[in-house]
Order: sequence, then structure tokens, then C-alpha cells
Amino acid sequence: MMATRAPRHPARAASDRTEPARSAETGRDFEFTPADFARIRDLIHRAAGISLSDHKRDMAYSRLARRLRARGLETFRHYLDLLEAENDPAEWEAFTNALTTNLTAFFREAHHFPILAEFVPRRAQPVSVWCSAASTGEEPYSIAMTLIEALGESGARQASVLATDIDTQVLAKAEAGVYQFDQVKHLSPERLKRFFLKGTGAHAGMVKVRPEVRALVRFEQLNLTDRDYQLRTQFDAIFCRNVMIYFDKPTQAQVLTRFEPLMKPGGLLFAGHSENFTYVTQAFRLRGQTVYELTRDGGGARTSSRATAASQPSGVVA
Ligand SMILES: C[S@@+](CC[C@H](N)C(=O)[O-])C[C@H]1O[C@@H](n2cnc3c(N)ncnc32)[C@H](O)[C@@H]1O
Repeated sequence: MMATRAPRHPARAASDRTEPARSAETGRDFEFTPADFARIRDLIHRAAGISLSDHKRDMAYSRLARRLRARGLETFRHYLDLLEAENDPAEWEAFTNALTTNLTAFFREAHHFPILAEFVPRRAQPVSVWCSAASTGEEPYSIAMTLIEALGESGARQASVLATDIDTQVLAKAEAGVYQFDQVKHLSPERLKRFFLKGTGAHAGMVKVRPEVRALVRFEQLNLTDRDYQLRTQFDAIFCRNVMIYFDKPTQAQVLTRFEPLMKPGGLLFAGHSENFTYVTQAFRLRGQTVYELTRDGGGARTSSRATAASQPSGVVA
């Protein structure tokens, strides 16, 4: 279930707000000290498992400066004090949404989709796939389209794609299923015709995912660093692509440990192009092309103690 979106704190009216003076030295509206950035890193790591590297300092400033403006605050220290003191889920949600990176595309890392298409007809039906960092929806919809192509319209009707992400803002966009034509122009004419409705009039230049595709996908908020995902089902395939790169090794190991019981026997785990789980776990082995399978179905293998004991970030960070 999508998290209920509590109303955001209304921004103070422009008239009661004292605009902070822009620093001539930094060109910034707000003072942003190394201590502020260190605190942000610590908080987002605790909230979402995300390890922010040094070069994300400017990104953190500009994304969170919007929160300061929205709250009518004048310093980062004050904002972070409030975030911690109030412990308001809506502000934590805004803080987390601001610091995620949501880059994605339809049929991104395209070599995975023929593998999925070849895999699903051989599975006991109905098949279920979990897309665990779904961002704005392009990935779970690409999975749903692949299921329809591989199983046929009627075969795919029973199939399901659970699409989750920590970021509630991207999930809202994903649920709408509306995109710029530019985002789909690289797809074949057959796919465009079969899976998208073309916008007209005020919606010219836009496309919408067809209801048959949309019907296969269920969107929910889920934090991969949560102790219990509250998922009471198993999956034929889990897509966990281009999110583990933001996590340090101990966090990656914890996530993989939680995936183990959620895989059906013989299930596949799809990773992003720069993600290598071989160094993190012995529970999954590489099958080829960044696709993994359980080493022992039934969950005998365990996540590497090396990884869980490591206290330093892996160095592969956001
Ligand atoms: C770069 S996007 C990747 C999207 C898609 N999987 C792909 O490969 O195109 C990373 C996504 O991971 C999500 N994310 C980051 N931390 C997360 C967490 N702790 N739990 C769930 N999702 C998370 C972000 O919100 C973002 O949408």
C-alpha cells in the first residue's frame, strides 16, 4: 500500500518570511557547513541506507534548500534540528525523496528482458515478479510488457508485477503511467502501438501506458533497508537494479539476506550493470549477464560474514 501522504507543512507566506541574504562568496542562499553535510549523510544512511559520497555535497544542498524554503527556515542546522526533533513522517518522507537518485528508462539494460521472456513460460503459472527499485515506473512497465509478449495477453492476465520504491514522489508518477514521447521513441513501432496510448490535444507529445499493461502492476512504498518487508509471497524473479550501488556492503548483504526467502526455487535475481553481488554474498551465484540465482534452493547458503562484519562503506557510493 502506498504510504498515506500526510499534508506537507505549508510554506510560510512570502510576506512573513525573511529571505536569507545570498552569500557573495558561495553564491548560496543558506549557510551549509561540512558539519551539516556530515549530518545529512548520517541521517539519509539511517533512513534509506544511502551512502552519499563527497561529490554529492552540491546536490544535497540544492535539493534540501527547497525544504528550507518550504519550511521558511534560514539555516540547514535549524532544518536538521527540526527534522530530528519533530520526527514528523511527512518531513522524513520529503527529506528522503529529495536525496534519492531516480534515473531510469524503458527497457534499460535491455539484455535482461529477453532472458526474462525466455524464463517465464517455463515457470509454474501464474508468475510473479518484484521490481524493488521501481522509480518512475519505466522498469516495472517494461517487465509487464515483456510478460505480455512472452505469455500472450491471456497468459499474462494472471501474472503480477509488484513495483516498490522508497520514494513516494516517483511512485505517484509511476502510478499515473504518463510519459513524454521522447522517453519511448527508441521502442519498436510494434511495442509503441501495442503498449501505449498516444496523447492528443493538450496531451500531444505524451504517451500513456495502456490499461492492460497497467493492470499487471501494483505499486507500493517499500524501504529495502527495512527489517521486515511484510511480503508474504515469493517471486519467480526479483529486479534489484541500480539501487545497491547507493548502499554500502553491509547494507547490500542485509538486503540480499532478506531476498533469499522471497525467491521461489529456481528464481532469478536481476542486478544493475555495475553491481556485483558475488563479493557480498554466497547465497546467490552469477548465472551470467548480471543475473543471479540462489546457490542452494531452500536457503542453505548464507550471506558472507565478511560483508556483514565490514563496517566501512564499500566505496561504491552515490
Ligand atoms: C537509479 S534508480 C534505478 C531505477 C531502476 N531500478 C533502474 O534500474 O532503471 C534508484 C531507485 O532506488 C530507489 N531507492 C533508493 N534507496 C532505496 C531504498 N532504501 N529502498 C527502496 N528504494 C530505494 C530510489 O528512490 C530510486 O528510485
